[in-house]
Formats: sequence, C-alpha cells, structure tokens
Amino acid sequence: MVTSIYRFVVVALIFCSFATTVHAELDDALREECAGRRALVFEAIGDAVLVIRGEPHNEGYEQFYQGNDFYYLTGLETPAADLILDGKNDVAHLFLEPRNRQREAWEGAQLAPGEEAIALTGIADVHSKREFLAVLDIAARSLGKIFVPFEQSEARTRIADGMESARGDLRGDSGAAVVSYQEAFHKFLKERYTEKSFENATTLLRNMRVTKSEYELEKLREVARISADALRKTIALTKPGMWEYQLQAALTGAWMWQGARTWGYHPIIGSGYNSTVLHYIKNDRQIADGDLVLIDAAAWNDYYVSDITRTYPANGKFTDRQKEIYDIVLEAQKQGISAVRAGTNMMAVHLAAQRVISAAGYGRYFTHGTSHHVGMAVHDPNSNALREGMVITVEPGIYLPDESIGVRIEDVVIVTDGGCEVISSGVPKSVDEIEALMAGGG
Ligand code: GLY
Ligand code: MN
Ligand code: MN
Repeated sequence: MVTSIYRFVVVALIFCSFATTVHAELDDALREECAGRRALVFEAIGDAVLVIRGEPHNEGYEQFYQGNDFYYLTGLETPAADLILDGKNDVAHLFLEPRNRQREAWEGAQLAPGEEAIALTGIADVHSKREFLAVLDIAARSLGKIFVPFEQSEARTRIADGMESARGDLRGDSGAAVVSYQEAFHKFLKERYTEKSFENATTLLRNMRVTKSEYELEKLREVARISADALRKTIALTKPGMWEYQLQAALTGAWMWQGARTWGYHPIIGSGYNSTVLHYIKNDRQIADGDLVLIDAAAWNDYYVSDITRTYPANGKFTDRQKEIYDIVLEAQKQGISAVRAGTNMMAVHLAAQRVISAAGYGRYFTHGTSHHVGMAVHDPNSNALREGMVITVEPGIYLPDESIGVRIEDVVIVTDGGCEVISSGVPKSVDEIEALMAGGG
C-alpha cells in the first residue's frame, strides 16, 4: 500500500513537471506570426475550407520534426495534430490527441486538448482528435471548395526537389511510388466528398512561403550566423591526415553547441577528387596533403536552414593552379551577388556568374544553376522573379575531375530593394583570408 501511494506521488510529480516543459519555442512572436499567416490563408480561400494534417508519430527512435507547411500555420511540433481552417467564418480548428499517459512515460509530455494548448497556440478552438471527422464533415458540407495538400509533406530534409527527395526514397524495387500520408488523405477526402471540388493547399502555402517576413529573416540570419561560425572553426582546424567525417563531427558539434539541433541537409564534405562530386555525402575519405576540401554544410534551427559552401586547401596553402580556379569562381560569385536586387530574376544572377566563368574558358565545367531559394527547406519554394524579402543562394562552381579540383563558393543573401544582404559572411572567402585563418591568424 505504502509502495503504491509512493508510486502514485512519483508519477504525479513527473507529470506535473512535464506540463511546464512542453513547447517552449512557441513564443509570442511565433504565435503572432502564425496567426498572421492563417489570416492570409483566410483571405486567399474565401468561403472554402483548408485541411492539413501534421506529421504522424515516428516509428522507432527517429526524432520528430513537424511538416514545414503545418508548422508554418501553427508553430506546433506536436505529432499527429490536424488543422481545419474555416474560410467562411475565419475560424481555425486544431485537433490534438487526447492525453496518453503511457506514451508520455516513455516519450515525454505531449500537448493535449485543453487550456494549455489554447494559450500556447493562440487557437481558441482546440478539439480532441476524436472529433476531427465530425468537424470536417460539417465544414466540408457547408463551405465551398476543399483545399488539401495534394503532395507529400516537406519535413526538414524531406525536400520535394530531388536532393533527398522522399519521392525517390519511397520508390520500392518495382519503381512505383508509395503513396504518402498526405496523398492518402487527399484520396480519402475525394472518396468521402464526391460532390466537392478540390484545390492544392501545397501550392497555396508554398507560394506564401516564397517571400519571407521580418520574423523569418531574423531566423534565417541566426541560422546563417551559427552555420558560418561552425564552418570557420572547422576550416581553421583542418589538417591533412584527418578524415572527412571528422570535419563533419566538428561542424555538427559546433552548431549543436549553439543550440541548432541538427543539419539542414546532409553535409557534403569532399576532399581531392570528391570535391568535384556535387552531392558527395559519404564523407569517409582520409584527406591528403595538397587536396582541396569542399564543405557544403549548414545547420537547421527552429525550422529554418542555411546553405553555405567554402573550398580551401587542406594544408592551408593554395597551389597556383588551385588559386587560379578559385579566383575565377570567387569573381563569378561576386558578380552574381552584385546582380541580386528586387525587380530582377534568378536567371540574371546566373548569367552574371556564368559570364565570368565562360570568359575564363571553363563554361562547360560549371555544371549547375547559381541560385535557389532557402527558407524552411534548403531548396525552398521557388520563384524566378526576385522581390524584396526573398532569400536565395549564390553558388557558382568549377569542377575539374581530371585534376581533382572542385571549387564552389556559396552564400545566402536576402534580396533588398537596391541589392542584397549577405547573411553568411561570417566565414572567410578570399585566398588571403582563408590562408590567414588556417595559419592561425583569422
Ligand atoms: N547544399 C545543397 C545546395 O547547395 O543546393
Ligand atoms: Mn545551395
Ligand atoms: Mn549548398
């Protein structure tokens, strides 16, 4: 008896302490930001309904990351949450799993319906997930069209563009794509509401995400600062004889030390010949004296990422040939950055960089585009036209496999009215600066 009372007290204390520790990251600024985004959705959908499901629980020991589009509207990291936006009445309905004490004993507290959830999210209508279909039925039958994601959700490194595309990962031996959670839900709705017309919520939300708010720009500056700092430290400690994965360890340690939980995309750390392989992620070669090292790596922090590349000599001193190629790429990057401004487009930035490389006779060794957008995903929703508040990379390169010389220099810039703000400048770029850093003077 005494034992069971004791057990009860311990369990009660554990759960009381859980209640104070969930979702510290959903602060006033993010709450307001998400409310503003939902208001824009209400404007855009008229009297329609938008329904979006958050990511389900992970199997096994995978850390949970919310889908970017769901997070964009709610700021919520809670697994298995759902959101219905009623465009006619401008009301948001959030659905959360009821408390599950057994799961919480293993995985920690999970936000459940109730006052805490209402205060945290700023959403007044928080329901148990058991009510989801009943509320959806009323909304779907009384409102206009249904906006629902037609596509696989994007979550951290699950990017809808090919680099680490889940579509590719989800293809089995037969080559047939496995239907994702979001796609299955879209199919379910079409079968349930046969008389309704459907619009793609993925397109609506990704279009909204292209131009960043001040809140988002601050998040992007912060993650760029953390990433640049980690890269600068990693360059400074590099020596021939180290292994590529040891540089990955240094980078990862440095950005986690500053609170950035993980990487924004798998780090690319290529030495020697590997510097010429665009998305080399094996990172398992021993670095030799005389090698160039190309590091394309950046952190993920609070649902925003960065994307930075630097190339440098493992022994701290560029050879004449390495320097010759490096300076062409650096000049191309400078010209690309100079071409960025609101009112122009990404193609103009690419042409500015490409002109330099082609004039030097290396046009056919520059084998990729110069820019892509960056935000919640490393390859964020795209727009060729550039407007103030968009965030893109400028990343020309020259790759000479026969000489084991691959050079790419990549920065992240915020498009402004008259030009751009380079937010990843905390890591050196010129030959002299890099050599000084590696000699211990940077
Ligand atoms: N880090 C991937 C890229 O630069 O696009
Ligand atoms: Mn990039
Ligand atoms: Mn990159």
